[in-house]
Amino acid sequence: MLKIAVCVSGGGTNLQAIIDSIASGTITNTRIVRVISNKAGAYALERAAAAGIDAVAVTRADHPDKADFNAALLKAVDEAAPDLVVLAGFLVVLDAGFIRKYKGRIINIHPSLIPSFCGDGFYGLKVHEAALARGVKVTGATVHFVDEGTDTGPIIMQKAVNVEEGDTPEVLQKRVMEQAEWKILPAVIDGIANNRIKYGSV
Ligand code: GAR
Repeated sequence: MLKIAVCVSGGGTNLQAIIDSIASGTITNTRIVRVISNKAGAYALERAAAAGIDAVAVTRADHPDKADFNAALLKAVDEAAPDLVVLAGFLVVLDAGFIRKYKGRIINIHPSLIPSFCGDGFYGLKVHEAALARGVKVTGATVHFVDEGTDTGPIIMQKAVNVEEGDTPEVLQKRVMEQAEWKILPAVIDGIANNRIKYGSV
């Protein structure tokens, strides 16, 4: 049984996709042991509570000192003893100590086809704004293992999504979520849980 900790910052639709995929059997051999949010009011925390999952908030408001925040975040994850840490819309850059400790056991979902529209400053709606500003006709989402860089780790799975005439960032974001993110993140978790996907061989 793969024990996963899911880190979130906002609405938690990717978290919901994981919860639903476990319930429907699309993800097997997996249990969410804890949801961790860096925002106290994140709707993702309500989704976790509704599913009966242990959920905690570790915030900069409670830990204004960055090193103190990083230590509290690591402690919240360590306490849950996960096999895999899933960054599902987690808009915090993990510090080097965290990444070292969980190397090969952290995955992230990013709402573009890496290496386009990724790295520092590219998160959430900003990614889709940049894709529309550049005029790309195809975008998508990527699940990758996390290394010390921002969105630089080994790519595990990608799915392309068409940009349509008249798209707004919000409309494009929703299409990328529906057609790509909510499919490939559960698929990768199931692949890791069932030993089809391994760090070092993607
Ligand atoms: C998702 O689109 C996710 O890919 C993105 O934030 C959104 C969170 O939505 N993540 C990043 O931009 C990471 N760089 P959600 O809270 O509804 O899952």
